[in-house]
Amino acid sequence: MPELLPYQDRELSVERRTEDLMSRMTVEEMVGQLVQADGRKQAAEQVRDGRVGSFLHILGPTTLELQKLAEKTGLGIPLLFGIDAIHGHGFWEGATVFPTQLSLSCSWNPELLEVMGRITAKEMLCTGLHWTFSPVLCLARDMRWGRVGETFGEDPHLLGVLGKALVRGYQGNSISDPDSVIACAKHFAGYSETVGGRDASEAELSERKLRTYFLPPFHEMVKAGCKSFMTAYQCIDGVACVVNRWLLTDVLRGEWGFQGFVVTDWNNVGRTHTEQGLYASIEEAVPPSLRAGNDMIMVTPEFYDAALSQLRKGKLAKEDVELACRRVLSHKFEFGLFDHKRYPPLNKVPEVVGSPQHREPLLRCALESIVLLKNERPENASKRILPLSSNIRHLALLGPNADDILAQLGDWSFGSGQAGLNTGGHPRHLVSTVRDGVREKARTRAITVDYERGCDVMSDDLSHIARAAELAAACDVAIVVVGDVLAQIGETRDRYELDLTGGQMPLLEAVKKTGTPLVVVLINSKPLCIPWVAEHADAIIEAFNPGMRGGEAIAEILFGEANPMGKLTVSFPAAVGQQPVYYQQIPGWHGNKHNNYTNKPLFAFGYGLSYTTYTSDRLELSRRELRRGESVEVSVNVKNSGGRPGTEIVQLYLNDVFSSLSTPEKTLKAYQRVHLERGQTETVRFQLTPEDLSFIGRDGRPLTEPGEFEVMVGSSSRDEDLLRARFTLLDE
Ligand code: BGC
Repeated sequence: MPELLPYQDRELSVERRTEDLMSRMTVEEMVGQLVQADGRKQAAEQVRDGRVGSFLHILGPTTLELQKLAEKTGLGIPLLFGIDAIHGHGFWEGATVFPTQLSLSCSWNPELLEVMGRITAKEMLCTGLHWTFSPVLCLARDMRWGRVGETFGEDPHLLGVLGKALVRGYQGNSISDPDSVIACAKHFAGYSETVGGRDASEAELSERKLRTYFLPPFHEMVKAGCKSFMTAYQCIDGVACVVNRWLLTDVLRGEWGFQGFVVTDWNNVGRTHTEQGLYASIEEAVPPSLRAGNDMIMVTPEFYDAALSQLRKGKLAKEDVELACRRVLSHKFEFGLFDHKRYPPLNKVPEVVGSPQHREPLLRCALESIVLLKNERPENASKRILPLSSNIRHLALLGPNADDILAQLGDWSFGSGQAGLNTGGHPRHLVSTVRDGVREKARTRAITVDYERGCDVMSDDLSHIARAAELAAACDVAIVVVGDVLAQIGETRDRYELDLTGGQMPLLEAVKKTGTPLVVVLINSKPLCIPWVAEHADAIIEAFNPGMRGGEAIAEILFGEANPMGKLTVSFPAAVGQQPVYYQQIPGWHGNKHNNYTNKPLFAFGYGLSYTTYTSDRLELSRRELRRGESVEVSVNVKNSGGRPGTEIVQLYLNDVFSSLSTPEKTLKAYQRVHLERGQTETVRFQLTPEDLSFIGRDGRPLTEPGEFEVMVGSSSRDEDLLRARFTLLDE
């Protein structure tokens, strides 16, 4: 056996091994480690030349071939393979595709996020991938933005809870664990707040606003041990996030103690020159990018040569390269790439990827996430159409999204624009659409189903609507599945309107005219403006992109085999121009609204119905006066006052009634999911800690002021759903 060099010796510490390896490296090799390249272009060549440390967007056998090649070069430094496995390993044919982040967030259930992370990690590793660019911690406040569906919604607290669980799922106890992959918190920071919802345009954010809403979820990811962060594309107050040293180093590493590594977003460095007009050349953008705190540069093909040239000219400090390289290598060591190698067990793919055990939680994920938005007949408010009555014998299933697997699975799966990995699609039999789900339930109940797509989401062809209406007229109920399609969502696909496009409105109107009860099912990436539907439908089910078993789940809810329990994590505007309607509004003058329109969302954050009813009372505080540093216990009785068991999501909001700086009227501080049998009452208790009472001051630090606080507890963020009580923080 040849003697091991210190860096090859797994008995030594990561630090020792990293230093030893670095001491053997040329500066060219170090710069190579900072490069993340698009694996679809001349990958082998780049490996041979030592110009790359990581690839993205390749899968399977190619990763193994490249890894073996890397091991034969110079010091044999292994490659790190990254991919966007955002809601499952969606770019691998037949992998387990979960509901999207927005969809799954409506479960408010961190356990499900952890399950998704674990399963995704296993499927990724089996196919050669190490690192997923997930979770997304962007705050969704402008529904025009194309990437709303990639987020956990609009609330910072909820983003933190769900994001942490997903990181736990991906990384397990440690990234050294052979079952774990590396998570990546993105896009750091403020990316979603781009002006007009136009992807990657400048975000108008003050430091105070950033620290109040946008940074806290990312801070939670550091606390959860998330090993990597990705920068955001846009500028904040003139500074591109990718060169923002305050953000990437002072806050992230200095204040929060982040120990992981930072990757730029795709061509983030290059675009400071080509798009943002910040540097006269890409070469000029390289030193500030590294100095800011980036460790790996995703797909800026000019980076490698530019960095070496800047080093030669003395414009880039070697220490900056070393620091970044050290961080990249120490993670390769920690991840076990030098030792257990993580060669993908490709022969296990058929057994692991998309296995029955992995697919099993898909149904629960969809069931817990689906939100019942309306269940009240416009002509007779006390009548409910859902769950469907056992007297129904004949139903019409209509609409363009009733049987469209791409629309159902959503972004970051086959058919979505980003990766171009599309070698086909997910096998049809692995996806249950609403059509499949309804057909199955109807079969066992001897119900006849007439299906007609009726129209298209993107074309104005109305020629099939008459046929659809004819079917509806002859049925006991019409279920119309509408929403959006991939061409309308995702990166760079922002919208100036949020309508049900193509023939969808004419289809709905035609069905309504028949007088047959109308159930609308929404399969869409994000909230659309649907005031007509809210007024005229007899019931509305929002599923967003509910994953591979979404159709089954929707059918279970339609037929009453399951009781809906999801609640919205994002508010629905009634009209595009009414935005923003997120619940965390700052009180303003003059009603805070447009003169000719309500400021109320069509459906509010935290809202969601059930087939049972819940009644809350006895909101109590353990004390009415608090001294600094003291906590208060809040309790409320919640009763299942309806006819079937269910799970209620009890939410607690707080308002610092008078504060020296403007603060929101409601901020979610805590929530609990409570399962209640029929007639059961539970006392739900929350602790409000001193930290909960603070807000961010002008100096960027938390500030707590004496005075009155209002606690609001209830079933949604709407005033009418909340019980209220006040306490005072004493002035000492
Ligand atoms: C997106 C990132 C993604 C990356 C790699 C970028 O365009 O903004 O979210 O992780 O591409 O696919």
